[in-house]
Amino acid sequence: MYGMVNKAIEAMVSADHGERMWEKIKRKAGVDVEVFISNEGYPDEMTFALVVAASEELDTPVPLILEAFGEHWILKTALGDYGDMLSAGGSSLSEFLINLPTFHARVSLMLPHLQPPRFRLMSTGENWVRIGYESSREGLCPFVVGLFRGLGKMYGTPATVQHVADKSAGAAFDEFLVSW
Ligand code: HEM
Repeated sequence: MYGMVNKAIEAMVSADHGERMWEKIKRKAGVDVEVFISNEGYPDEMTFALVVAASEELDTPVPLILEAFGEHWILKTALGDYGDMLSAGGSSLSEFLINLPTFHARVSLMLPHLQPPRFRLMSTGENWVRIGYESSREGLCPFVVGLFRGLGKMYGTPATVQHVADKSAGAAFDEFLVSW
């Protein structure tokens, strides 16, 4: 994944638990990188090792780390560093979610080696959207939950997120119901 992802994990952990804890987590993960470069690629295994080491050092289950990271990614990383791109996605939570299937195509213009997730719009109602999620990576559904919660907060419409179809339990792909 692009270095901006590891950089964002570093920012979240350092803000909440200090830089010494981040150094400890990096050591535990066997990651020997002084400074992550945002637009450079790093192996996915490195990112996953950092998340697992953070889970162990902070005594917090991996899914909770990923959910917190999803919110942080929207509210701190994306809003802070890529605000124009994020706000171009829509002027309300429902508009953003309806546009989500094409969102990473715009991100790919900036990051040509992106291996993005695939989102598809399943159905919508007055205060809910049902979205399908597919990825070449395993285990990131809690990250998606955190991302949707972060978007709800960003638009001032706090959202409830339910994982309504689970690929790891036999569904064809994962689906989320986001309501507000
Ligand atoms: C300006 C805002 C955003 C930027 C710059 C961005 C960029 C990225 C980058 C660099 C990755 C790592 C993949 C790689 O390097 O190959 C990624 C992954 C991901 N992004 Fe975004 N993203 C943004 C917003 C969003 C939003 C709003 C969502 C959904 C609500 C989202 C969902 C995901 C997911 C689920 C992944 C994990 C990869 C996977 O599932 O395989 N992103 N994105």
